[in-house]
Amino acid sequence: GKTTALIVAAGRGERAGGGIPKQYASVAGRAVLAHAIDACMAHGGIDEVRVVIGEGQEALYAQAIEDRSLPSPIIGGAERRLSVLAGLEAIDGERVLIHDAARPFLPAAVIDRLLAALDEAPGAVPVLPVVDTLAQADTALGDIVPRDGVVRVQTPQAFHTHAILAAHRAWDGARPATDDAQIARAAGLSVLPVTGDRLLEKLTYAEDIEAAERRLRATMI
Ligand code: C5P
Repeated sequence: GKTTALIVAAGRGERAGGGIPKQYASVAGRAVLAHAIDACMAHGGIDEVRVVIGEGQEALYAQAIEDRSLPSPIIGGAERRLSVLAGLEAIDGERVLIHDAARPFLPAAVIDRLLAALDEAPGAVPVLPVVDTLAQADTALGDIVPRDGVVRVQTPQAFHTHAILAAHRAWDGARPATDDAQIARAAGLSVLPVTGDRLLEKLTYAEDIEAAERRLRATMI
C-alpha cells in the first residue's frame, strides 16, 4: 500500500515574530518547508508528499518549493487540527506520516522506526524523555509535575490512514488539540512510542531559526 507524507504548513507563525511564517523562512539556502519536503522525498518508504498551506499562502509556497515537482497543495484551516483534517480528507493511500513543516530536520532513521511500528499498531510517534524539572507555574511556582514516565511527543506521527481519519472526524471540536496522537488516543487507537531525535525539535521562536541556520552551516563546512 501507499505511504503519504502529509506536511502541515498552514500556520501563521506568530510566535516567531517577523512578517513571514516560520515554515517559509530560509535556512541555509532553502525554505524550512523545503527541508522537510526533501527529507520525505529522499526516503524510499514514502511514496508521495502532500503539503497543507494556509489560504493566501500560495505565492509563499511556490517560492518555497522552487522547482520541486509536487501535487497541488491542500488548503488548511484556522487550527492545526483542521489543517490535518483537510489533508486527510484529500489523500488516499494506506499509511500516512503527519509532519509539522516547522520541524525541517527529519532523520531517515526516525521514519524507518515509525514505518516498522505501523506493522504492529495503527499509530506510532517519536518521543524523547523530559530532562528538565516540570512544575505548575503561576506568579509563584506551584507543584512539581513528576517527569518519570513522561515523554515529549514529536512529529512525524504515523498512522493507518483510515484509522486516523475516523479519529479526527470523531474528535470533539470544542477541545484544543496540539497533535494527532492525542486525537488517536481519544478514539481508542493504540499509539506506539519510537525513539525521537533532538534534530526534530520544532522551530518556534525567531532564535530557533537562527540557531538552525548556524547548526546547518557548521555541518556543511
Ligand atoms: O503553531 P504550531 O507550532 O503548533 O504549528 C505546528 C505546525 O502546524 C506548523 O508546521 C504549522 O504550520 C502547522 N499549522 C497548520 N495550520 C494551522 C496552524 C498550524 O498547518 N492552522
